[in-house]
Amino acid sequence: MKFFIMTLFPDMVLDALHTSVLGRAAEKGLLDIEAVDIRTFATNKHKRVDDYPYGGGAGLVMQAEPIYRAYQSVQDKTQGNPRVIYLTPQGRVFSQEMARELAKEEELVFLCGHYEGIDERVLEEIVTDQVSIGDYVLTGGELAAMVMVDAISRLVPGVLNNEESAEFESFEDNLLEYPQYSRPEEWMGRRVPAVLLSGHHGKVDEWRREQSLLRTLERRPDLLEKARLTDKDRDFLDKIQKKPCEDA
Ligand code: ADE
Repeated sequence: MKFFIMTLFPDMVLDALHTSVLGRAAEKGLLDIEAVDIRTFATNKHKRVDDYPYGGGAGLVMQAEPIYRAYQSVQDKTQGNPRVIYLTPQGRVFSQEMARELAKEEELVFLCGHYEGIDERVLEEIVTDQVSIGDYVLTGGELAAMVMVDAISRLVPGVLNNEESAEFESFEDNLLEYPQYSRPEEWMGRRVPAVLLSGHHGKVDEWRREQSLLRTLERRPDLLEKARLTDKDRDFLDKIQKKPCEDA
């Protein structure tokens, strides 16, 4: 999968995204992450890419022309007409579902803003999707683009060593993942749940399913409404939600 990231800070995104799992995937040729330095497309000798906002107000606005030229340079390298994602707190909130949808694309373009924003006209001209990574304001779109590239990339076949680890995990089917344990069996007086040492796969699966349900109920009850639950799941949730006095 190919990502183009239009930014004023190419080193920031390239360093982070060529580390660990994504770095190895890039070496294997599964991912190709290219940073496009907007500043190199400035049309003045001082390489300025921002100016004062018309109508007054604080801060500077990124100008349309360098961004448009950066975009044209991306277009020259792409096959089709890739989606262009502008990172902004005003966008649709990113989710695992959106990551799954975007992972089906062959190429994606990200546009990272800075200062007080970007001239609206270039957004109208080139952007297909506006996306936020949450209800808070960052100093620029780079961290948001990196979050998205990471979440999308790990869904690309072959990027994770173990295909299973993307199969059952938090948000899969709108349930949070069950707790995990590794050696030793006892640490600081805390023992690994006995069922995990039993070697009984059926019981382990059942326990994990119940832990997922329990965690989701406690931490993210909003997700349960969208989860596909079996009759057995519902019975379990009913049982744990019943107050002791109701049992009498
Ligand atoms: N740029 C600044 N804040 C952002 C956010 N929350 N999400 C995406 N892009 C941003």
